[in-house]
Amino acid sequence: MQMRKQQSASEPDPDRLGLPPEDELVAAVKALAPKEEAIALTLDALETGIFRHPDGRTDDLQTVRLQPGEVGLLAHLARVCPKPLSIEIGFGMGSSASVILGTRRLERKPFAHLIFDPFGLSNNRGKIVQAYLQARFPKAFRRIMKRSEIGLGALIEKVGRGAAGLIFIDGGHRFENAMTDFVLSDLLCCQGGYIVYDDALYPAIETVINYVIANRPDYAVAHLAVANTTILKKIGPDKRAWDAFKPFEVPQREDWTPRQPAAAAAARKRS
Ligand SMILES: C[S@@+](CC[C@H](N)C(=O)[O-])C[C@H]1O[C@@H](n2cnc3c(N)ncnc32)[C@H](O)[C@@H]1O
Repeated sequence: MQMRKQQSASEPDPDRLGLPPEDELVAAVKALAPKEEAIALTLDALETGIFRHPDGRTDDLQTVRLQPGEVGLLAHLARVCPKPLSIEIGFGMGSSASVILGTRRLERKPFAHLIFDPFGLSNNRGKIVQAYLQARFPKAFRRIMKRSEIGLGALIEKVGRGAAGLIFIDGGHRFENAMTDFVLSDLLCCQGGYIVYDDALYPAIETVINYVIANRPDYAVAHLAVANTTILKKIGPDKRAWDAFKPFEVPQREDWTPRQPAAAAAARKRS
């Protein structure tokens, strides 16, 4: 892939890492719903705002709702995930976990999906989704009640470097959380594997992405390739000198201020 020289922080990857367009990703995950209950329940929950457990209990997503393009992207990457192990940071309402688990099961190959999240959401939201996933994927699903900055390090010691094919980061949203998640996920991610950031429209996450674009030629980056989401693909070994450092852009926006919609739309169009 020769996108490195074409990329800059403000000009996302033009070939989208070969990903299908967003509408195709959405159509493809919708087509999986009749084949896998977890995906059907999750798509319904994201549309209505309520997860309905087959036993009648409900879980209220409130504002923790992934967008359709992101769900389609996660299903696509779960399908092409090059290792049995996939990892997630931040359980939330379990929507991303359900889609990754459901898609991976449909692939009919052995797999495990680990999720780090010791906190969860207010008012026990997400607990009913978690109970559902535990019952439906008793062997493949595990939520580890550790902060990612502790848990990912311990996991590297256990499974070794390069053991994971897909890592979805949607946990702590401060800059140092997102950066630590990159450092540790980089050690866990295999060559050809993917690290995916939710909330890439926001300055703390965008800063991490800008660091990777400027400093990590071992990654190809599809910045904002689908709504609010950036994909990093590990394409080779890290061959930098010990003192390597390239300056990178830090967005001059505070807190939860998104990139301007017009700029984001233009970025998506260019990518
Ligand atoms: C936006 S939610 C995740 C949403 C999820 N992707 C979904 O589909 O519903 C963020 C989650 O990250 C968790 N979290 C926050 N800081 C964390 C950390 N340091 N390590 C692991 N999880 C963390 C929170 O408890 C929360 O459940």
